[in-house]
Amino acid sequence: MTAKLISGIEIAKDIREELKVEVDELTNKHNVVPGLVTILVGEDPASQSYVAAKNKTAHALGIHSEQVTLDADTSEEDLLATVKKYNEDPKIHGILVQLPLPKHVNEANVLLAIDPAKDVDGFHPINVGKMVLGEQCFLPCTPHGILEMLTRSGVETSGAEVVIIGRSNIVGKPIANLMLQKRDGGNATITLCHTRTKDMAEHCRRADIIIAAVGVPKMVTADMVKEGAVIIDVGVNRIGKASNGKAILAGDVDFDAVKEIASFITPVPGGVGPMTITMLMKNTVQAAKMAADLI
Ligand code: GUN
Repeated sequence: MTAKLISGIEIAKDIREELKVEVDELTNKHNVVPGLVTILVGEDPASQSYVAAKNKTAHALGIHSEQVTLDADTSEEDLLATVKKYNEDPKIHGILVQLPLPKHVNEANVLLAIDPAKDVDGFHPINVGKMVLGEQCFLPCTPHGILEMLTRSGVETSGAEVVIIGRSNIVGKPIANLMLQKRDGGNATITLCHTRTKDMAEHCRRADIIIAAVGVPKMVTADMVKEGAVIIDVGVNRIGKASNGKAILAGDVDFDAVKEIASFITPVPGGVGPMTITMLMKNTVQAAKMAADLI
């Protein structure tokens, strides 16, 4: 079997078209321009390119976007002051602090400082708590994007055996939580694997859906995948540089071998990445509507 490709580029394009209509209506009918600020500390090339892509997408949708770049040695105090400034700025409805932060900055303190009503990443403990309880909140962008990819591709998650590899706060833990809830893209039986899992391959071979978010290139090999399984690859690993200087990327899945066994598979690049950015835009529009009492 050759798997069908779940194109994040195509699905994200559909969602962005829906969002553009909403942004135009907000701007023209309600005089509200959704506003996003991205805050980057340091010069990590991957983070720089993610933040640039977020601002470019915001711009294309008519979302007002500001980019703040701070030196790698910026103190926690100064970063907290920057967050506070944007908490109080009425033009800004969404605040994103790109992670990871330099080691001398306490990430938890920074996420806690973001106004939960502007926390378009869904990382503030209040929003995390609401998400776990299944209450209305900003959903974290990568897990939300994965749910959209599954549901818009017609993948049945109800009753499915889902194996998630990786227990990060950004992907593994929230996607596990969302997929066990009674919701679209949910009602699944979840196994969450991590570095101490005893027999990862054995768990994976049982899975109807595998979500790999571990940061190890091509870790999921063909022998770990059941015939007809659905494969979501969250990994973006830089495995070299092309002659034109561009990074060569590989996912966490051995794409060429696994696509012969799976029923659906996401590519890297062009899979989950564009969805993450698009869900950030969706959350920013939602934040602007909330601030204007429109929802
Ligand atoms: N670093 C990697 N993914 C993300 C994300 O979704 N949001 C933020 N703020 N930082 C990240």
